[in-house]
Amino acid sequence: MDLAWSQAILCILLPPVCIYVFFVQLHWKSWKYLSSGRDMMMAMADQCGDAAFSVPIPGNRLHLFTSKRHWDELNSTSLDVLSNHAWSKDMLQPKAAFGYDWSDRRNEEGMPIVRAIRTISNQFSILRPECVRILEQDFNQAMESNPSGKNAIGRVPLWPTIQFSLARITTLMICGEDVANDPEFMERSVKFLDEAGKVAEATKILPSFISPVVKMLIQGRNLNRDYVYATIANKTEEFRRAKAASEDTKELPKTILNAFMETVPDDWPTTRVVHIVNTLWYSASQGITVLAAHLIQDIYTHESHIRDLQQECRGVLDDADSDMSKLPLLEAFLMESMRTKCFQSTTIHRVALGKPYTFSDGYSVPAGEILSFLQHKVYSDDTLYAEARNFHPARFQGSGRAATDMPGMEWAFWGNSKLAW
Ligand SMILES: *[C@@H]1O[C@H](CO)[C@@H](O)[C@H](O)[C@H]1NC(C)=O
Ligand SMILES: *[C@@H]1O[C@H](CO)[C@@H](O)[C@H](O)[C@H]1NC(C)=O
Repeated sequence: MDLAWSQAILCILLPPVCIYVFFVQLHWKSWKYLSSGRDMMMAMADQCGDAAFSVPIPGNRLHLFTSKRHWDELNSTSLDVLSNHAWSKDMLQPKAAFGYDWSDRRNEEGMPIVRAIRTISNQFSILRPECVRILEQDFNQAMESNPSGKNAIGRVPLWPTIQFSLARITTLMICGEDVANDPEFMERSVKFLDEAGKVAEATKILPSFISPVVKMLIQGRNLNRDYVYATIANKTEEFRRAKAASEDTKELPKTILNAFMETVPDDWPTTRVVHIVNTLWYSASQGITVLAAHLIQDIYTHESHIRDLQQECRGVLDDADSDMSKLPLLEAFLMESMRTKCFQSTTIHRVALGKPYTFSDGYSVPAGEILSFLQHKVYSDDTLYAEARNFHPARFQGSGRAATDMPGMEWAFWGNSKLAW
């Protein structure tokens, strides 16, 4: 065979061979993680007992631990060594999804926004009637636009309804009532949530030369994103104008944006404020929506408790001054829903910054790789939760625990105390 022929054959054969080696030989396991990651991790956790282990994920490796000893060591390790911020950056891909980048370490900008969230949470009772009104309005509208058929059963699309309603409540808390009641903002912002999520996933799993094309296909000319940013920018400017006109009313700030603006220096550029507020708005609209969707699913698949739940809520939700802690059955339902569905199988996400991180038992996480606690294993442990696979609404009733508690690894949804505000 002459040289030209062998070159031609090589040219024809080489690409499929490369593709085979890249996707099938080297990366098939990391791709498998996308479809059955939770099962993969749970199966390996059963084999490994208390030892840490790792699984390949697209573009990186995920190290998992489930033992108390690893938990305690992690709890006493600085965020400068194992960074949560670097993990968020890897997860959300802000540069591609939001159009601005973050530094690798958490910086001083974190604190004013945390204080602003706390200010508004502390006066949540003021916003509560409006939140209840939004939920009622959106669910009634969903019912009306999906009228019941012959057998009096109507179908309401659960996820879009909850996503829309909770995005509105988040918007109410961050930007205020007028924005939450602006139909164009709500329509575009929910689209932006979906687009940004898809772009982040595409950026993580696709080779870097393809992802810009996919990003363009998903986000188009960024009209939805631009509208969200323009709205936040306009609210920021509005606050500045009011402050310059020194309308010193000594009123409590009604939105997180306003509480934030009261603490940041006047010379901060508006775009800087927009980016921080957008990051908060985006993150706040994600996890809680999944929790709420699971809760509603669990309530309606355990019908025998609906009457008691309704009774319990009646005296509390329709009274603006009532004590929200007087919903023990709902709280127990929420906790059992969180435990069994466990919407994120892992928690306490960290990236080893700069150099490898080694546990005292010698298990080492190379720099740049991710480390997480596999919380789903704990919630499925029959020795901690009797008949762990079954949904028992009464399990947490009278336990004295709340869904937002941070007692340690047996209830790890909110991580460990390292990020406690
Ligand atoms: C923001 O304000 C500008 C100038 O007043 C206005 O033209 C624009 O429509 C506003 N954008 C949004 C999204 O509210
Ligand atoms: C983490 O460690 C701190 C002390 O540094 C301790 O007070 C706290 O209870 C621990 N938290 C968890 C969730 O283990």
